[in-house]
Amino acid sequence: MQIIAHRGASGDYPENTLLAIEQAIAQGADAIEIDVFAVQDELIVIHDHHLARTTNGSGSIYQYTLAELLQLNAGQGQRIPTLWQVLAVVQGKCWLNIELKGDDTVAPLLALLDKARQQLGFDCQQLLISSFNHHLLADIKLKRPTLKLGALTASLPIDYAAFASALQAYSVNCDVSFINQAFVDDAKARGLQVFVYTVDQTDDINRLKNYGVDGIFCNFPARSRAVL
Ligand code: G3P
Ligand code: MG
Repeated sequence: MQIIAHRGASGDYPENTLLAIEQAIAQGADAIEIDVFAVQDELIVIHDHHLARTTNGSGSIYQYTLAELLQLNAGQGQRIPTLWQVLAVVQGKCWLNIELKGDDTVAPLLALLDKARQQLGFDCQQLLISSFNHHLLADIKLKRPTLKLGALTASLPIDYAAFASALQAYSVNCDVSFINQAFVDDAKARGLQVFVYTVDQTDDINRLKNYGVDGIFCNFPARSRAVL
């Protein structure tokens, strides 16, 4: 079962910062999950569109210029990273799950990935693009069919993982609160990877391993690795 560091090693370091990402890599995470919003055609790495929980700013990201946002303190002196900075940090080290927040992320994401491929030689097969907004995923599938997609769900759908098959997703990314053996069996029969968030408790880790889940999103990657 793979360990995906949720917002980096966010249990011990400020979430969605380069420090949390570097520490997750140092802890041996197989992958990093980050959340991105689009601001002025740039993708920035932050979970909430309100700034107060994770930075010394206040109000919404949409009230500020990109330059202003990049000056904020995101904890321990860290800045809000850009997706470009994260790609440079993870390249060749582990795979990366980019979770799209907001509804205007697809065009800037595809432009950035094209640039990363050309300028950094970035291998986009190292990426999993996920969202709770399945319309964005369908749009990406049309425009860049080879990108891997993760269909997020916070529920246990009545027809299990059928929605992820319809999106031609690579994985279905599920809430630990709802997942059960029947869902995992259905997803695996469809050829989908199953990733589960957010998993930090030993009993959950063991239960998901027994279900045959492929990966877990963890706030404490080293601790989860030790349990496994
Ligand atoms: O991608 C898994 C998980 O991060 C989804 O929920 O709210 O933590 O972005 P959230
Ligand atoms: Mg997320």
